[in-house]
Amino acid sequence: MSEPFYVTTPIYYVNDKPHLGHVYTTMIADVVARYHRLRGDDVFFLTGVDEHAAKVADKAAENNLSPQQWADRNAAAFREVFEKLEMTNDDFVRTSEDRHKQKVTEYVAALLKSGDVYQGEYEGWYDAGQEEYVPENKAKASEYKSEVNGKPLVRKSEKNYFFKLEKYRDQVIRAIEGGEMVVKPDARRNEIINRLAEAKDVPISRSGSGGWGIPMPNDPKQTIYVWIDALFNYLSYIDTPERKPYWQSGATHFIAKDILWFHASIWPAMLMALRKCPGYEWVNLPRMIYSHSYWVSETGQKMSKSLGNFLDPQAIDNYVKEFGLDALRYFLATRGPLGTTDSAFSPDLFAEVYNSDLANTFGNSCSRVTNMIGKYFEGKVPESPGDNWMPGKSQRFSDVLRAYGNLYKEDNASLNLSSSAHRGLEIVRLVDSTIDIEAPFKLAKEPANLPRVGNILCNCLESLRIASILLWPFIPDACELFWERIGCDYAAQMKASDGKGKLDEWVKWGQLKPGQRVETGTALFPRYQVK
Ligand code: MSP
Repeated sequence: MSEPFYVTTPIYYVNDKPHLGHVYTTMIADVVARYHRLRGDDVFFLTGVDEHAAKVADKAAENNLSPQQWADRNAAAFREVFEKLEMTNDDFVRTSEDRHKQKVTEYVAALLKSGDVYQGEYEGWYDAGQEEYVPENKAKASEYKSEVNGKPLVRKSEKNYFFKLEKYRDQVIRAIEGGEMVVKPDARRNEIINRLAEAKDVPISRSGSGGWGIPMPNDPKQTIYVWIDALFNYLSYIDTPERKPYWQSGATHFIAKDILWFHASIWPAMLMALRKCPGYEWVNLPRMIYSHSYWVSETGQKMSKSLGNFLDPQAIDNYVKEFGLDALRYFLATRGPLGTTDSAFSPDLFAEVYNSDLANTFGNSCSRVTNMIGKYFEGKVPESPGDNWMPGKSQRFSDVLRAYGNLYKEDNASLNLSSSAHRGLEIVRLVDSTIDIEAPFKLAKEPANLPRVGNILCNCLESLRIASILLWPFIPDACELFWERIGCDYAAQMKASDGKGKLDEWVKWGQLKPGQRVETGTALFPRYQVK
């Protein structure tokens, strides 16, 4: 039975073009989506753009365009980058679409009716770049400047509608502490719990947005606050009879630390409030909010549009041209800021990781083994009369690889992507050390040794086959090419079953058939010469 699995990214502001930070979050969500498809899960992966921000309207005005025209242009740029990078999202959110606006109107109307949204007056410190009010103590601590871009906060007051966050804050804390909604990494969870304990009701509407946004259902002069509009995307896009099971399976939301507060406080509280409204009893909480850290420049500054130090689509494209798309995926997913520390994006490190992990390890090992099979066995999987003992004869490949496969699944369940990729690489390293120790290329000089050589190469190829399955979510293009060369039709099987794979079945030891054709072809990852 395939299980539904729902994974999302933030929806990105369209005031400007996409950059590496946006690509990163969508990329890791894509790796996770691919892993779940490989397992045979029924995956829904959502990414997209957030259009109704005041800064989108401002940028549009600067460029003499309507907000919608400006949003159309940049939404297209995001879509294009994600398509180019072969992201496998199942839909693409645009908050200016009617299907989203209608649903958000319905949700807010339900909350007005239940009384969890009410009219009031708000005054506070506003961070215009982040489109967010900053609590008094935080504003003071940062000397009334934006923590993100350093610009002065502005004092703002307005009449608007409020959501009763205070009423739900203890329930949200309990949901986090009890594990109903997991907030990761742990260090960030404590920050949120402390802040939640003090949470007050929050404004959810604005006046004077010039009509850019979704009107309050009962008061069209007010516009639904862009953050409320945006958070609802996770629900609005799958609030259809066919897609609902994805929501109910418990969403995994990938975000960065800058927007954890909204996701771990207001969002679950609104869902709790909505669940009490007639017709929304099916609404549960997300299963996981994963907040990663930032890519920073080599000098340690956050990469961002406002700082102008980000890798733009052109720069990203240059990496893809030079190293291939798999290399970009692999680097971002294994060396990125998934934990609580920021990662510096360095071209030298990129090239080093490419050479060490992809060219010299996976790529090289595949070439070595298939080359020898070509040379000594006419490019056919040899008969393997022997066993699968590893050199030293204390362990069998089949047992060791089964253990790696289990660890791989644990790593993926806890979203430890770097460790998960390394399980595949560790298998490749076993193959390399087997070849170094057994030296089949020397043994093969003596025809009487050929059965033994066949046995060694069979074990190596079988191990590489399994490694390539584990590595597929990270470097799908290279793995699919390798499968083609060794006569495995996994890609076709996935295609034929709506993307679903059979991880558990495929990683079982001993599936290569003697006589099966094996081709070497060109290097999967040609070594990069530093210029
Ligand atoms: N529109 C809101 C999100 C609404 S979600 C309901 C928003 N948009 S944003 O364009 O500013 O994108 C923020 C997200 O982009 C971060 O949470 C993160 O996922 C990604 N990143 C932006 N810059 C980044 C880095 N320098 N490093 C890593 N990820 C970064 O906030």
